[in-house]
Amino acid sequence: MRKQKKVSESYVIMTELVLPNDTNTLHNLMGGRMMHWMDIVSAIAAQKHSNRIVVTASVDNVSFSESIKLGNVVTLEAKVTRAFNSSMEVHIVVFAEDIPSGKKFMSNQAFFTFVAVDQSGNPIDVPDAVPETKEEIELYDGALRRRQLRLVLGGRMKASEANELKSLFDLKEKSAK
Ligand SMILES: CC(C)(COP(=O)(O)OP(=O)(O)OC[C@H]1O[C@@H](n2cnc3c(N)ncnc32)[C@H](O)[C@@H]1OP(=O)(O)O)[C@@H](O)C(=O)NCCC(=O)NCCS
Repeated sequence: MRKQKKVSESYVIMTELVLPNDTNTLHNLMGGRMMHWMDIVSAIAAQKHSNRIVVTASVDNVSFSESIKLGNVVTLEAKVTRAFNSSMEVHIVVFAEDIPSGKKFMSNQAFFTFVAVDQSGNPIDVPDAVPETKEEIELYDGALRRRQLRLVLGGRMKASEANELKSLFDLKEKSAK
C-alpha cells in the first residue's frame, strides 16, 4: 500500500515585499516575477509532500485581474491538492496587501503540476494526498478532471480516453435537455 500524507502537511506560506526591481515602468509587479514566486512556493509544497526533488511539469492558465503595486506585500499560499503516480497538482492562491491603507485582495490563483524525480531525473512514485477539510476535498475531487484536461491539451492523452472529462460533458448535456 502506498504511503499517505495529509494535504495540510504540504501547506506553505511565502511573503514578499514588492521592490523597485520587481516592477515594470508603471511601478506594477511584473507577471514574470509573480510566476517565479508561484513556482517556488508550489515547488516547496510538492517537495514537502513527496520528500523528493521535484520538477515543474506544467502550469495551468494564470490571469492577473488587478495590478499589484510597488510597496505592496504579496502572500502566496500553496498546497498539494492530489497526488497521482509521480505527479502532484499544487494549488496556489496569491494575496496582495497595501499595509498603509489596509487594503487586501486576492490577486489570482493557479494550479501547477510537479513531478518527483530520483537523482537521475527519472519520475518516482509519491505518497497519496489525503484531503480533510471541505475545501481540500473539493480541490481533490476536481483534480482528476484538471489532470485529464492538461494531459489532453499537452498531447499526452487522447481525448477519447479522458473519461472524467467526458462524464462531465455528458452530465452537462443531460441537464441541458
Ligand atoms: C516532467 C518530466 C519528469 C516527465 O518525464 P516523462 O519521461 O515524460 O515521464 P512520464 O511520461 O513517465 O510522466 C511522468 C509523470 O509526469 C506527468 N506529466 C508529464 N508531462 C506533463 C505535463 N505536461 N503536464 C502534467 N503532467 C505531466 C505524467 O502525467 C506522469 O504523471 P504520473 O506519474 O502521476 O502518472 C520530464 O518531462 C521533465 O523532466 N521535464 C522537464 C522538467 C523541467 O525542467 N521543468 C522546469 C521547466 S522550466
